[in-house]
Amino acid sequence: MPSMMDAVLVAERLDAGYGTRVIQRDLQFSVRRGEVFVVMGASGCGKSTLLRHLIGLQAPLGGRMLFNGEDFWAQPVARRAKLQQDFGVLYQNAALWGAMTLRENICLPLEAYRPNLCRAELAELAALKLALVGLGGCDELYPAELSGGMRKRAALARALALDPQMLFLDEPSAGLDPINSMALDELILQLRDSLGASIVLVTHELPSIFTVADTCLFLDGQSGTQLALGPPAELLAHGPQAVQRFLRRDTRLAEEAP
Ligand SMILES: Nc1ncnc2c1ncn2[C@@H]1O[C@H](COP(=O)(O)OP(=O)(O)OP(=O)(O)O)[C@@H](O)[C@H]1O
Ligand SMILES: [Mg+2]
Repeated sequence: MPSMMDAVLVAERLDAGYGTRVIQRDLQFSVRRGEVFVVMGASGCGKSTLLRHLIGLQAPLGGRMLFNGEDFWAQPVARRAKLQQDFGVLYQNAALWGAMTLRENICLPLEAYRPNLCRAELAELAALKLALVGLGGCDELYPAELSGGMRKRAALARALALDPQMLFLDEPSAGLDPINSMALDELILQLRDSLGASIVLVTHELPSIFTVADTCLFLDGQSGTQLALGPPAELLAHGPQAVQRFLRRDTRLAEEAP
């Protein structure tokens, strides 16, 4: 039986970017089963760009990405689409469909990929996912009727619709107050523990990385490559200067908060 800490996603000398413009070069890391893997770095350093490659939206400019040992981008489109069903994604500007209720929003991916389910089964699954993120009973509400924090959790419920092995969250706490942001961190940890999913969490300033991250990848905008990879406490103590500064600034801000 495979251990909980097997690598699910591996980046091998990955070059991230657009067209001929490489934004991050030579990225090397692996995300293990059941871990929270944080991608951090200043605004514009290429975190969301890397995510686009990892979730299968756009091919990297170089290198390989292995998903459960399979070279993702070497696969034909149909196989990639099949593998993508194991990816749940919360985009940076996570938009729920405004004209649809939460139930309908969550049923959308289910209808597309679970065509054998009847209406009642779909509704039941949607209710289950909403309950999982603390929105039980909100099935018939529209996104506009929710607070910002609730909307983030609803988008998370939609990302969970297909029981993904991997969950990719791009700055899920952006725009939330510290309390709601902490609640979301708690939820992320709960989801990891209850679902056994691996979580790739992108953030550019997150005082809470010390609570949620098992491993951190630091992308540097200036050199255009990764500066550090490891558990946050280790990077804080022994990481490169720039990474230590980045982490110190964040913890100091967190400690100073009332
Ligand atoms: N569709 C695109 N085509 C070309 N370049 C792009 C595209 N999207 C983003 N970029 C460029 O890629 C670089 C990295 O952007 P990216 O969105 O990945 O940064 P980020 O680290 O996610 O920043 P933030 O923390 O602000 O979200 C930026 O210089 C940006 O202008
Ligand atoms: Mg981004």
